[in-house]
Amino acid sequence: MLVSGAGTNLQALLDACLSDSYGAEVVAVGADRDHIPALARAKAAGIPTFSLRVRDFPARDDWDRALTAACAEFKPDLIVLAGFMKLLGADFLARFGGRVINTHPALLPSFPGMHGARDALEYGAKVSGCTVFLVDAGTDSGPIIAQAAVPVHDDDDEAALHGRIKVAERALLVDTVGRLVRDGWSVQGRKVRIGS
Ligand code: GRF
Repeated sequence: MLVSGAGTNLQALLDACLSDSYGAEVVAVGADRDHIPALARAKAAGIPTFSLRVRDFPARDDWDRALTAACAEFKPDLIVLAGFMKLLGADFLARFGGRVINTHPALLPSFPGMHGARDALEYGAKVSGCTVFLVDAGTDSGPIIAQAAVPVHDDDDEAALHGRIKVAERALLVDTVGRLVRDGWSVQGRKVRIGS
């Protein structure tokens, strides 16, 4: 898994993995920064961690190659981005493309980018939610795997809406990762189908 922040989605997956019937295991957690709660959560669960900061590399492509190599060491079947605030580069996608998923706090294709909850609120949307999707080279533009809707309340601020979305997001991510790992998936054009 790749993370950048609080790691509540990571924690939900770690908790789900405690059950044998879930069928998945987190083999490593990587980050683009140090000293974040997400890495502490991984360490507390006994999961190997690594962190690679863009600014420690001469160029963005060098960082991307290092991230690719660090992930490859753990031979993951699936790479889950959960609150990972960096775009992946060409090397990473050449190596892992098609099995990298991300979670976004809005109903894509509405409100892509860094502030999905804020943007939906400012737009005046009455329903928002979360989207789990396959990562491609664009920003939140890959094929959609699963979505859940969440109401926007009249008196919501960004924190209230994002908090409500994150409750749904954790459940959706846990459910989706479990089904992908247990049942496999196929992609035709933009359509993702879980199972055979
Ligand atoms: C999630 O809402 C994710 O969609 C967004 O950042 C949040 C990360 O939350 N990009 P956490 O670090 O898993 O608690």
